Amino acid sequence: MIAMEIDLTLIGMEKGKQYETIITTNDAHDIQNAAPIGVLCSGKDKILNRIFKGSHTLENIISQREFVVNITHDPEIFTLSTLGNLPEDYFNENNSLKCADAYFRCEVISLKEAVKQSDPIKKKGEAIVIKSKVTELTIINPTKAFNRSFGCVIETLSNYSRFDLVGEAQKEYYLDRFRECNRIVKKVGYEADKKAMDEIKKELMKKGYEP
Ligand SMILES: Cc1cc2nc3c(=O)[nH]c(=O)nc-3n(C[C@H](O)[C@H](O)[C@H](O)COP(=O)(O)O)c2cc1C
Repeated sequence: MIAMEIDLTLIGMEKGKQYETIITTNDAHDIQNAAPIGVLCSGKDKILNRIFKGSHTLENIISQREFVVNITHDPEIFTLSTLGNLPEDYFNENNSLKCADAYFRCEVISLKEAVKQSDPIKKKGEAIVIKSKVTELTIINPTKAFNRSFGCVIETLSNYSRFDLVGEAQKEYYLDRFRECNRIVKKVGYEADKKAMDEIKKELMKKGYEP
């Protein structure tokens, strides 16, 4: 385990891009909590989160003003911490996760009501934007934080490769999937992912569809 210079590019996080992580927090009674939360990298030692009101994570961050961001690619951790909470034995004493390939500790700089709303589900004003400074970075195994957009490109390509083989109802389904994947890629993706989606869009348009 190596405590590193604080530079989020060491774990593949680029300024302006969003990554899917597990944030671990504790409350005033030291009860530990874990939840999947998106992290927007805003500099080599700065991040932003937008967290909906009502979550334990937000309550704990507001009360403790600090939290840990864990980098893992383990689907079990994402699933257990979305459907419920992780059992105690998944946590280290320092509040990081035992399975994390890397983790960093953050201190809150500011908390503000969210004004921008691009999420399809909730209404504006129901979330808080948290700006934080990274105070410690630990890399256990070489890793890169997970960005959703490449998965969206692959899913879209897989659907595209079947497009000419299916009926109209399934084509409509694939076009809807394209629109949703394109929304995600535009929001969180790298330039190469955006370019790939544009190329697929052009091909679908050549076939006479409006993706
Ligand atoms: C991949 C992924 C990313 C998520 N990102 C966020 C996020 O950025 N903000 C948020 O409020 N909820 C996010 N969620 C939803 C929370 O993880 C979910 O509401 C969780 O139940 C909160 O748990 P808690 O009450 O223990 O904090 C995300 C869920 C998943 C699966």
